Amino acid sequence: MSTGAAEGLVITGIGELTTADDAEMVEGPAALVCAGDGTVAWVGRQGDLPRQAGTARVDVGGRAVIPGFVDSHTHLVFAGHRASEWNARMAGRPYRAGGIRTTVDATRAASDAELLHNAQGLADEALRSGTTTLEIKSGYGLDVAHEERILAVAAAISDERTFLGAHVVPAELAGHPDEYVELVCGPMLDRCAPHARWIDVFCDRGAFDEDQSRAVLAAGRAAGLGLRVHANQLEEGPGVRLGVELGAASVDHCTHLSDADIEALAGSGTSRGSPHGATVATLLPAAEFSTRSSYPDARRLLDAGVTVALASDCNPGSSFTTSMPLVIALAVREMHMTLDEALWAATAGGAAALRRPDLGRLVPGCRADLVVLEAPTALWLGYRPGVDLVRTVVRGGHLVAGGWP
Ligand code: NIG
Ligand code: FE
Repeated sequence: MSTGAAEGLVITGIGELTTADDAEMVEGPAALVCAGDGTVAWVGRQGDLPRQAGTARVDVGGRAVIPGFVDSHTHLVFAGHRASEWNARMAGRPYRAGGIRTTVDATRAASDAELLHNAQGLADEALRSGTTTLEIKSGYGLDVAHEERILAVAAAISDERTFLGAHVVPAELAGHPDEYVELVCGPMLDRCAPHARWIDVFCDRGAFDEDQSRAVLAAGRAAGLGLRVHANQLEEGPGVRLGVELGAASVDHCTHLSDADIEALAGSGTSRGSPHGATVATLLPAAEFSTRSSYPDARRLLDAGVTVALASDCNPGSSFTTSMPLVIALAVREMHMTLDEALWAATAGGAAALRRPDLGRLVPGCRADLVVLEAPTALWLGYRPGVDLVRTVVRGGHLVAGGWP
């Protein structure tokens, strides 16, 4: 059987098909047709399958099919690890932004080849767990040359790259945050903007304040970059409202939210119907899990009509996982999202956070990125936590990980 999809691919025998569109679910037996150009050409009940649809056919034997995960927030390019910092946290020490500098030292000392090897290894791991799109941030270089080379390394892995020079103030400029912000907004941005689509700033305790964050985002926007904000991870603060005010595509973490934050997000536009344009609240529950923190109030956000995405935040400090199935299980168990809400947030929600309407949904015209689960229903993503349920991963109509049943 050829599954190369050069001339299209028909997947039949789908027990439950989650499209992550308005019409959420197609009951089985369902079918999906990938066009030769790597997009979805048709989805529906198998009995309605158009006659000469595609040439290669594969029957998935009643398994569930979902969109590939869109992980819209990662920090994949770094060297070293911080297992002992994690161990100390599990013994009661709090998470602090300053740990980032440990990874900056290791990253500056690593060669380009090492950085690429590490990041590619994590990207492959993510793919095997069903992630078909990854956003990658810089932020462990914190000087012009290292920030630029991190983004150049990331370019080998993903088109969705974010300049996060404003992660923390580096050790050599400790006590001089305004000087560092000038560097970020000037020479660093000049060199990094050509390698990135987005700019991000860590607006939080121990990182950057409102004025500094505003300056970074304004400079990024003037350089043609879209805006994202690390906001309200460590305490309530101005980050979420600043992101909404400036039209950021996403404010991420949202662990500590005031009423005004929720109102601002809800007023930025909604929601599952047409989320592109709203400021998305991207929640990162693996970070709360790994820092033993309280979880964001996802229910309040959802009930207020805010567009919510879920992402891994994969990084060596606060969340060293690439597993979107883990993120979904945590969102359901710890943040009271339904499985359906969590799966939407990890697919179409991530696509909204990246303003990529061509991703995250299995509807005609979208890229044919999908996962066949070793499960009759996507509910098993929460029901069987910690078990590898990803059987087959298809990106752009091509088999890219696992195998056909
Ligand atoms: O998103 N909070 C800021 N940045 C990362 C953590 C980085 C680190 O601790 O190395 C995050 O959680
Ligand atoms: Fe992050």
